[in-house]
Amino acid sequence: MEGIIAECGGSMTCLTCHCYVTLPESGSLPEPSANEQEMLDCVLEARENSRLSCQVVVTPELDGARFDIPQWQG
Ligand code: FES
Repeated sequence: MEGIIAECGGSMTCLTCHCYVTLPESGSLPEPSANEQEMLDCVLEARENSRLSCQVVVTPELDGARFDIPQWQG
């Protein structure tokens, strides 16, 4: 996606896919895996809704979700 670098291609080593996920009212997203959470603990400007977008599986439950990237990343 434009604006998301995702340099490592999803192997969870670069953090350049960090984003803030805002779910629609009825939306849901599985909790991050232990590995994803470990990496999220290292990102700059982490928030409660921080995720590695390379680990997000697009499902109908994400319809209407918003993915924002940190300003310094864009
Ligand atoms: S693409 Fe590198 S951590 Fe997600």
